[in-house]
Amino acid sequence: MRKKIVAGNWKMHTCIEEGVILAAEINSKVKKEVSNQETGIIIAPPFTHLSIIGQIVDNERICIAAQNCSSEPKGAFTGEVSAKMLKSFGVKAVILGHSERRAYYVETNEILLKKVNLVLENDLKPIFCCGEKLEERESKNHFNVVKSQIEQVLFNLDVENFSKCIIAYEPVWAIGTGVTASSEQAQEMHLFIRNLIVEKFGKEISENITILYGGSCKPSNSKELFSKPDVDGGLIGGASLDADDFIAIINSF
Ligand code: 13P
Repeated sequence: MRKKIVAGNWKMHTCIEEGVILAAEINSKVKKEVSNQETGIIIAPPFTHLSIIGQIVDNERICIAAQNCSSEPKGAFTGEVSAKMLKSFGVKAVILGHSERRAYYVETNEILLKKVNLVLENDLKPIFCCGEKLEERESKNHFNVVKSQIEQVLFNLDVENFSKCIIAYEPVWAIGTGVTASSEQAQEMHLFIRNLIVEKFGKEISENITILYGGSCKPSNSKELFSKPDVDGGLIGGASLDADDFIAIINSF
């Protein structure tokens, strides 16, 4: 049975003291207020915080993820952080292909495939984001967009590596806007993605892949979203910066 997961993407928020306080608060509330031990919990703070936060939280219960990594394994790439470096201080997963990175840092599918491969080679889990822009949904092109994002990157993997990935469907028009996809829209796309996986890798693999929803997910809508059969949790931006909201979302299954 596939894993339910709630992951917090802190984006470029919190200075180190604030990040440490937030991580400690999440850690203590997870202990006291989250009874379901089966729900996977991930937090993805900025690079600068990963090492210290990895030492603060209970690593058996909360996984630390990075928000990006380099498309190169090592070398003269000033300012970059490699997958191997992330692995060396306890990171377990890496968010890749976030729409903000696709839009502002021109991450193409080709670059993303290199990153996904490096992440897997270093025994880390890719959290691979996909999702359409508003105009793509309005022109009814949203299924094609998501299909090609997944096909051009994840469907180049062999079945063993593919089955280590987490997919996050994040419609761009819902990110940071306060406008959430309806649970029906989320379910429709998640089922579409799962069916693509059935065609490529078969039913068993498809049933075991966790597909998260992201985009203005908050305590007031997480229960409804997570009640859908193919929505296996969330990738949470803004609401993951508030420990109470994040815990409420974790407790929404
Ligand atoms: P918000 O939850 O702030 O809309 O962000 C979603 C997101 O981009 C998570 O990666």
